[in-house]
Amino acid sequence: MPKVVNAPLSLQLNTYLHPVNLSGAQSSPFHLDPISPFAGVKGLAQLKKEARAFLDAMAADSVASAWVPDLALRWSQIESEIEEKGTYTHSKRELQFGAKLAWRNSNRCIGRHFWRTLQVHDARNCETAEEAYAHLKRHVNTAFNGGKVTNVITIFPQAQSSEDVPWRMANHQLVRYAGFTQPDGTVLGDPDSVDFTSYCIKQGWDAPRTPWTPLPWVMVQHGKALPPRDVFKTGALLPHEVIISHPDFPATQDLGLRWYAVPILADMALKIGGVVYPFAPFNGHYLGTEIAARNLTDPDRYNVLEPWATACGISTSAKRALWQDEALVRLNQALLASFDNAGVTVGDHHELGRAFEQWCQAEQRQGHEVPGDWSWLTPPMSGSLTPQYHRHFSNGVITHTNYFYQAPPSVSGMTFTSKAKETHRLLATDAFQDEDVPKSCPFSSLRKTFQSLWE
Ligand code: ARG
Repeated sequence: MPKVVNAPLSLQLNTYLHPVNLSGAQSSPFHLDPISPFAGVKGLAQLKKEARAFLDAMAADSVASAWVPDLALRWSQIESEIEEKGTYTHSKRELQFGAKLAWRNSNRCIGRHFWRTLQVHDARNCETAEEAYAHLKRHVNTAFNGGKVTNVITIFPQAQSSEDVPWRMANHQLVRYAGFTQPDGTVLGDPDSVDFTSYCIKQGWDAPRTPWTPLPWVMVQHGKALPPRDVFKTGALLPHEVIISHPDFPATQDLGLRWYAVPILADMALKIGGVVYPFAPFNGHYLGTEIAARNLTDPDRYNVLEPWATACGISTSAKRALWQDEALVRLNQALLASFDNAGVTVGDHHELGRAFEQWCQAEQRQGHEVPGDWSWLTPPMSGSLTPQYHRHFSNGVITHTNYFYQAPPSVSGMTFTSKAKETHRLLATDAFQDEDVPKSCPFSSLRKTFQSLWE
């Protein structure tokens, strides 16, 4: 433990509790584990253990068990493949069920009750950049689905070894807005994209500077970054956006707010039964607060609350009069109404909270405790009005099959970080690995008096 000199107490404590690796990424059960499955005997033993845990989970599932008709046979195949090649290949069915199970195991997701609806596209044989772009364009359009958003994942080839990663993408999401640093130091667009935007510009990307310019795609093939490809520029592929204003406050139209319809995460790793898929973009639909209470509101993001309040005729003179809270409600109303009017799927925290709670209770009745990360499941506004707030979750992370944060691809000239991702909420002091998951959490149920929150 290095001695920290002259650091504030909080930093010293932090350094002690959460050793931070040199790349700056946090370490937690939500991050890809540092033991590579390809690292010698220990790695292989770990891979076998995770493969077996996944296969057992599949064989125990009421639907997927039909796809494991002979568990002993399939296990012996997997075991010998691992011994021979140091890894193994999933069948189509295993890939499909694995991607769904990984969603179900994602403690931070409030939409997990939809886990069986995930559409799995198998892109494991993708070889060329053109094929990769075609897969991704198809993903953008299939997920948007004319506004009725569907849950989709596109799975690119698995890592063959820790050094051999066929595909990664430098983008955080398939659609996201650029952030341009202006001469006066302010940012036009999304401040969270500043590093990535300046990388793209250095690589020759040229696009109109607006607050809402979709970023180009940067694919990384076998560790080599391809030039930025601006798929949205010609209009052949649409980012699918919704214009945001409040029906009762016409002046809000003048702010020109908008957001894209579907969040398609492109930088997380999918792990199924110990096998890592470093590039497997996936999406659900948006929860309104993600956009209105965070992306547009956070002071280090679009930071629109003050002009928004003014456009709604709310006086911003006294915090104690709760102008921020009032404006936040108006902005969230506007978001939901605008998506609804555009015919684009969006969840609200009450309905999603209700459905998630109902699922937790149904799982509990079958003896399955749903683990969860309270600080992520509780929405960033009106928390106590949702059932999640009143429920205790155990935060044990099932690590054999899940979605993980991973270090960004290491490519020369590319050193971007995302503030939005590296928040304190990543530290997850209470998270533990699956070996330690308690059989049941003694405090997990919702007290009877709170049932009215979701009934
Ligand atoms: N919070 C992120 C955003 O606002 C998206 C994370 C995934 N969200 C989802 N509904 N699947 O862009």
